[in-house]
Amino acid sequence: MSRVKVGIVGSRFQADCIAAAVKAAPDEAEVVAVASPTKGNADAFAKRHGIPRAYSDYHELLRDKEIEMISITAPNRLHAPITIDAARAGKHVVCEKPLCMTLEEADAMIDACTKAGVLLLYAEELFFAPKYVKARQMADEGAFGRVHLVKQGEKHSGPHSDWFWDVDQSGGGAVMDLGCHGIAFCWWFLGKQKVKSVYSQMSTQVHGKRTRGDDEAITIIEFANGAIGMVESSWNRPGGMDDSIEVFGDKGQTYADMLMGNALPTYSEVGFGYAVEKAATTKGWTYPVFEEHWNYGFPQEMRHFARCVRGKEQPISDGETGRVVQEVLYAAYASAGLGQKIRLPFRPAGIEKPIDLWKKPDLARVALT
Ligand SMILES: NC(=O)c1ccc[n+]([C@@H]2O[C@H](COP(=O)([O-])OP(=O)(O)OC[C@H]3O[C@@H](n4cnc5c(N)ncnc54)[C@H](O)[C@@H]3O)[C@@H](O)[C@H]2O)c1
Repeated sequence: MSRVKVGIVGSRFQADCIAAAVKAAPDEAEVVAVASPTKGNADAFAKRHGIPRAYSDYHELLRDKEIEMISITAPNRLHAPITIDAARAGKHVVCEKPLCMTLEEADAMIDACTKAGVLLLYAEELFFAPKYVKARQMADEGAFGRVHLVKQGEKHSGPHSDWFWDVDQSGGGAVMDLGCHGIAFCWWFLGKQKVKSVYSQMSTQVHGKRTRGDDEAITIIEFANGAIGMVESSWNRPGGMDDSIEVFGDKGQTYADMLMGNALPTYSEVGFGYAVEKAATTKGWTYPVFEEHWNYGFPQEMRHFARCVRGKEQPISDGETGRVVQEVLYAAYASAGLGQKIRLPFRPAGIEKPIDLWKKPDLARVALT
């Protein structure tokens, strides 16, 4: 069967990662075009990755007949409109996390893709990260007995692009940006159990001058089988990306540090090229990671999605996954706003962005009455 032809929307951080990930799955997929609005960026990206076509408007990319699947690596507020346009153009969609800004958008995206008969694939790479997959396999074999607590933390010094800090474009702060990974991870790890309730403690500890968003949060999720998920999200940890999990059952436990656990403890007085995502320096003690994309699971994820398009595999992360995460994001922000646990289902209508439920607690209060 021929390789799935991919078009990438966006040409910066995550676009580079997706282009490299597709290149690492050469039997299943290839990138044939990129679209990005900033002058020169799409051309430079195409040149860098050896991609044949570059467009400045994603609508042109959607008219490209060769493209079967698009990968959306644009800011969060654009995920829904681009997905809906792509579905109407008959393209399968890989949408970066978080799925969108609102639950209404999540519904509309799922609906548009269903109607068009295309796949909506939710890019949660932690479902493919080799260390985390191993932990899940052991849990499924019963290695830890009954798993009652799963923790995931994602922490770094803050995002690289301005739009993340502008809640009108991102929808929220660290919980929206990083917490979405942990929410999805705990849910997936526990076998996609229903979420019963959510409690979140959020604050803006360090970056108050730059953002109205949360930069530090702990979110506790109660699942239908009684197990607990605990998600730590921070934009306040210098020293490079920290992504790790802990799993506890009545018969055992496991710990996995995705990046530092696969790094070379290194000391250099002069520094060197690159250590790990978001590390500000390579001088002194650092933890340069090897095979960074593979450790995250990006090539494995894109390979799986391409195989889904060809009907060789069933999606393990789709629009429904993104919608589950979106509802928990709503509940987390509402919980922080009201200072109380929020029971699910929690689907307040007409919310513009999740963080509004924190900043304007009355919106959450109304939804609960
Ligand atoms: N899975 C992960 O671990 C991961 C990591 C980083 C980012 N992301 C997600 O990927 C998305 C992009 O993040 P990023 O870090 O690449 O941001 P970025 O700022 O580095 O890049 C955003 C890109 O979107 C482009 N863009 C803006 N408006 C556009 C439009 N109208 N049409 C087409 N392209 C447009 C920009 O030109 C830029 O190329 C976000 O949703 C983010 O949450 C996911």
